Amino acid sequence: MSDTETIHLADYTPPGWLVERTELTFRLHPTATRVISRLRFRRNPRAPEQAFFLHGEDLTLISARIDGQEITPEVTDKGLTCDVPAGDFTFEAEVEISPEDNTRLEGLYMSGGIYCTQCEAEGFRRITYYPDRPDVMAPFHVRVESDMPVLLSNGNKAGEGEGWAEWDDPWPKPAYLFALVAGDLKAHPGAFTTASGKDVELNIWVREADLGKCDFAMEALIKSMRWDEEKYGREYDLDIFNLVAVSDFNMGAMENKGLNIFNSKLVLASPETATDGTYERIEAVIAHEYFHNWTGNRITCRDWFQLSLKEGLTVFRDQQFTSDMRSAPVKRIEDAGLMRSHQFREDGGPLAHPVRPESFVEINNFYTVTVYEKGAEVIGMLHRLVGPEAYRKALDLYFERHDGEAATVEDWLRVFEDSTGRDLSQFKRWYSQAGTPRLNVEESFKDGTYTLTLEQQTPPTPGQERKLPFHMPVAVGLLSPNGDEAVPTQVLELTEPRQSFTFEGLGARPILSINRDFSAPVIVTRKTTAAEEAFLLASDTDPFNRWDAGRALARRTLQQMMHEGSSPSHVYLGAIGQVLAEHGLDPALRARLLGLPGEDELAADEAAAGRAADPARIHKARESLKDAVARMHVGALQRTYMEAQTEGPYAPDAEQSGKRLLANAALSLLSRGDGGDTAREQFARADNMTLSLGALQALLSIGSGEAELAAFEERWRGDELVMDMWMSQQVQLAAPERALEVTRRLTEHPAFNAKNPNRLRAVIGALPANAAGFHDASGEGYAFLADWLIRTDKVNPQIAARLSTAFQTWKRYGERRQEMIQAQLARVAEAEGLSRDLREMVVRMRA
Ligand code: ARG
Ligand code: ZN
Repeated sequence: MSDTETIHLADYTPPGWLVERTELTFRLHPTATRVISRLRFRRNPRAPEQAFFLHGEDLTLISARIDGQEITPEVTDKGLTCDVPAGDFTFEAEVEISPEDNTRLEGLYMSGGIYCTQCEAEGFRRITYYPDRPDVMAPFHVRVESDMPVLLSNGNKAGEGEGWAEWDDPWPKPAYLFALVAGDLKAHPGAFTTASGKDVELNIWVREADLGKCDFAMEALIKSMRWDEEKYGREYDLDIFNLVAVSDFNMGAMENKGLNIFNSKLVLASPETATDGTYERIEAVIAHEYFHNWTGNRITCRDWFQLSLKEGLTVFRDQQFTSDMRSAPVKRIEDAGLMRSHQFREDGGPLAHPVRPESFVEINNFYTVTVYEKGAEVIGMLHRLVGPEAYRKALDLYFERHDGEAATVEDWLRVFEDSTGRDLSQFKRWYSQAGTPRLNVEESFKDGTYTLTLEQQTPPTPGQERKLPFHMPVAVGLLSPNGDEAVPTQVLELTEPRQSFTFEGLGARPILSINRDFSAPVIVTRKTTAAEEAFLLASDTDPFNRWDAGRALARRTLQQMMHEGSSPSHVYLGAIGQVLAEHGLDPALRARLLGLPGEDELAADEAAAGRAADPARIHKARESLKDAVARMHVGALQRTYMEAQTEGPYAPDAEQSGKRLLANAALSLLSRGDGGDTAREQFARADNMTLSLGALQALLSIGSGEAELAAFEERWRGDELVMDMWMSQQVQLAAPERALEVTRRLTEHPAFNAKNPNRLRAVIGALPANAAGFHDASGEGYAFLADWLIRTDKVNPQIAARLSTAFQTWKRYGERRQEMIQAQLARVAEAEGLSRDLREMVVRMRA
């Protein structure tokens, strides 16, 4: 990677010119779209002297003018320069682009005959010449000319006629929030009246065939709008809110002002085609994009290093929303589970970077679990440290002070400091230091006094050898041996490398429940016993820590099974029996408590213990533990399965979906003993996708389900989203020795489409999720992925870069596997015409 390609936070300079008004005309054509721009520029009084430069990539410049005079700018593959007047001026250009040839899906492209755009982060420069940086904000006026029946852009509709429509967005915005959609779309309409009495027209635009699948998304949108008013005092600010579903989309969805564009899998749902999990995701992502209207759009980011300013905050907001709509403890377990399985993996490997990175080559490579989820955890810690009232006060100040601005992490922390009087300079390290802190616990008890000593230490990460201590809230409770709460939850503030806390007047040595509710995103290391973990699993009053204790217990027995040849521990099996018998417990929580840590997480544990992870052995141990649970608890599992049946018509709400989650969890274990009979029966009678997919998964996990797979395909071959699930489940649940063959066969399936990101993720992206299959000792899984990275990179670099992260865990494995992975990374590095996206990833992952 040449140094000239790396962009540094430290090099930030304000833009030399600001845009006062942006006017665009689009004459749409699949291969020859004309974009005519008229930009009113004003010199930025606060910027240092610099040359005039507009970003532009893969554009054909037809003509350019300044103040009406034709000019001949100097054009490179990055953009355009020209001489400009000393004062204000108008720049006009006409360019030509080809949406149909745009397989990168950045800028203006076509998805199934629909014109659509994706401009974040730097896609607008593929549409026209522009200062494509988030700190340049302007009101946009857009005219779209096309014979497509529906023509949309940001803001309010300003007029329309035969073959044209005009849109006016009064709110100044950066180019990354621009959007345009044109196509044969139908609206699922809705309406919302804001708290101050303003009527807003709502539309979800889809293909006619999908009109029946929009009710849930519309409900979610309305709930989000209401929630943001009630919880944050934020109202919607345009007359209309449009949301469009498209089949080809690099990410989940995009918050373009007044015109959100979504991956169809996060909009379309019917009981027959979407699982409960999908419904929950749809609700959360609709909310997420809507919430961006204030945290992202009204207040945007000064530069892309500040990405977490909008993403971490908006994820935190959508997490709060889901907790309010559904079960807070279950949501916390899901989010903490994601941090552990995905963010800790990133933070502990070659791709580790701070929540606010200090440099990048390709910004699209930094839309990560660290920026999003760890960023949200950092805000969660702030929320916990200052308390909910002070948090709300700080947010009010944030909106008041920075509305209409492009802000920074410093601005964000300053509102908390100013409104609470707290010093957050140490807290700020969460934004600059990468890596997962280890929290080591020592305990002592004497004469009724319990002393807790916490020591924090953060391992080195790329480019950061030494770390300073973090300021973190650690929620702690103490339990009496009889299960009563001896000391209810307290938030300890840890700031030193080592710190002690005492609790007096205790009758007996208490049992510690630490980092309750996952109060800090850290790894707690402590000496405990299986008995203590079983006690916490049975008795902790903190649901997250019950789940966590169950995990710890499962890991303990899995390790013994792998390395000591032990049979599954009776303590674990007994504890699971107790969970199964806890009929009063929320079914969703019970289902979560029954789950085992994934193979990838177990591989991380092995590496942390200084051993080379052996994927085959991990897989075998995990499978035999499931067999043991199934054998030991047949009766209880059958009872649980019966108890978890739902009555009445299908509803994707928390109550019913919790039951189905439990039913499917029990089913998957029962299938190991009954040859799949119960699952086949469930598959046959299922009237919703949650139960049919659950049955199919149970069958695939025991190496069965051929007939069901065929029936499923027969029924759903016309539904691309269902076919994605059909494909990904086969790959993920294949026996390790068959995983590659199954994946390869699916790439030859008529429904496979190497240009569609969802399909690539469902097939190629699913292979690494079959850890033992992907890491097969032959190394063929690695070679297969490398082939697909090289191939995909030519079509869609962003997706190729994303898929390459499967190699980030290479250091966990033995020498032979490490060599094989490095050899494949080397092969990818040498591929001709490698994109900046994939090249950066490969460079970071290479030894
Ligand atoms: N801002 C969008 C979201 O959170 C993500 C879009 C990112 N797209 C990209 N190509 N990097 O919600
Ligand atoms: Zn977002």
